[in-house]
Amino acid sequence: MKIAVVGTGYVGLVTGTCFAETGNTVTCIDIDVEKVAKMKDGEVPIYEPGLELLFERNTRQGRLFFTTDLAAGVKDAQIIFLALPTPPGENGSADLSYILSVAEDLSGIITDYKVIVDKSTVPVGTAEKVEKVLSRKLDRSLFDVVSNPEFLREGVAVEDFLKPDRVVIGTSSEKAADIMRTLYKPFVMQGNPIIVMDVRSAEMTKYAANSYLAARISFMNEIANLCEKLGANVDMVRKGMGSDTRIGKRFLFPGVGYGGSCFPKDVKALSKTAEESSYDFKIIKSVMEVNDLQKKRLSQKIIAYFGKDIRDKTIAVWGLAFKPNTDDIREAPALTIIDDLLTAGADIKAFDPEAIANVEKIYGDKISFCDSPYEAVYQADALAIITEWSVFRTPDFDKIKEFLVSPVIFDGRNIYDPDVMKDLGFHYESIGRPG
Ligand SMILES: NC(=O)c1ccc[n+]([C@@H]2O[C@H](COP(=O)([O-])OP(=O)(O)OC[C@H]3O[C@@H](n4cnc5c(N)ncnc54)[C@H](O)[C@@H]3O)[C@@H](O)[C@H]2O)c1
Repeated sequence: MKIAVVGTGYVGLVTGTCFAETGNTVTCIDIDVEKVAKMKDGEVPIYEPGLELLFERNTRQGRLFFTTDLAAGVKDAQIIFLALPTPPGENGSADLSYILSVAEDLSGIITDYKVIVDKSTVPVGTAEKVEKVLSRKLDRSLFDVVSNPEFLREGVAVEDFLKPDRVVIGTSSEKAADIMRTLYKPFVMQGNPIIVMDVRSAEMTKYAANSYLAARISFMNEIANLCEKLGANVDMVRKGMGSDTRIGKRFLFPGVGYGGSCFPKDVKALSKTAEESSYDFKIIKSVMEVNDLQKKRLSQKIIAYFGKDIRDKTIAVWGLAFKPNTDDIREAPALTIIDDLLTAGADIKAFDPEAIANVEKIYGDKISFCDSPYEAVYQADALAIITEWSVFRTPDFDKIKEFLVSPVIFDGRNIYDPDVMKDLGFHYESIGRPG
């Protein structure tokens, strides 16, 4: 098939590359001239494990192309994916201006039948809006609008895309559904379902899934906070809960709160949708409130430990990305924690395997950036672990102890065993576990 992907970010580039990998010819379109020039030069503009290999193979074999020219990019495509940003607007609802303006542009370009696919996360009713915009200039027989929400996780995006748990397709057009089924068939050879449903349900599915996962995180963070008060160990509670097949083991890890480009904005947008529908969605409001508080919990522990005055203290920060295996720092808890520590007067020495360049754009020389985890702890007063990159899991504790002014670790991701840390002579605080 010939496919166009409009918007070549984390979702668009992975989508385009993976469709090329199954033999389709894909043109990725972006308005970012610099980004497109890089990709044409063979450079992958984001960090995502496994992407480079596929990107290289498919560009070399002539299945993956890049352009800034929308008209040229979509000309031969049977399917046009919109993988555009849907950031929170001023009131928290999703900003649809990117989607609707591209729809407007497409309405003046399309001359033969195309399936237009909303890949972006968009509120219920968006496909109808896109359809309305397209219909202003286009005959209704020339297009179908399909909702095909994306469930990939940054950090394992390629793997998720190639082997999705399910593919959700929202459309009332049998023709469009058949085209989408054919396109996705190679990705579900092991029997995972392609679920075709009405457009509104497909749009709702994405928000329901993300908000539910965010709710699990906030719920476990509250359980962890209560464990701290009661002398229980959230690790044990998590294992005890997660072994119940009705609950499952995943997404039960307490920590420094959820971040990233999706959960915060999608939870907010669902809350806004509920509000606009005069529905008082109580749980969703608590999920957000708990998360805002949890993002401050680690800095509060650090400040409390040093007795409020941390003006002469240097804190080493390990991990800046909102989660491991990505360079994405959008809404990363690390930023809230760093802001709190800077406000309290501390100096920060930070290390992250991939995200330093992005964080540097925000803080400049307000914090120091280090080339290795050990450089960060050198002469720092404490170490704060914020992102659970694998490289932090079994470090040289003797070296850390030798380098730190005093052996103090605040672990926002519970990656070490408190008993082991005690034996090693560290003052060690984590989330929801006895110290
Ligand atoms: N990042 C994720 O993990 C993830 C997962 C599932 C769904 N989503 C959803 O997918 C959508 C895209 O997210 P993302 O993280 O890929 O965003 P992104 O910001 O990484 O990428 C968006 C791209 O669109 C480009 N763009 C903006 N306006 C354009 C236009 N008029 N024409 C062409 N290109 C244009 C930007 O230059 C950018 O490269 C969002 O709705 C998001 O909620 C994201």
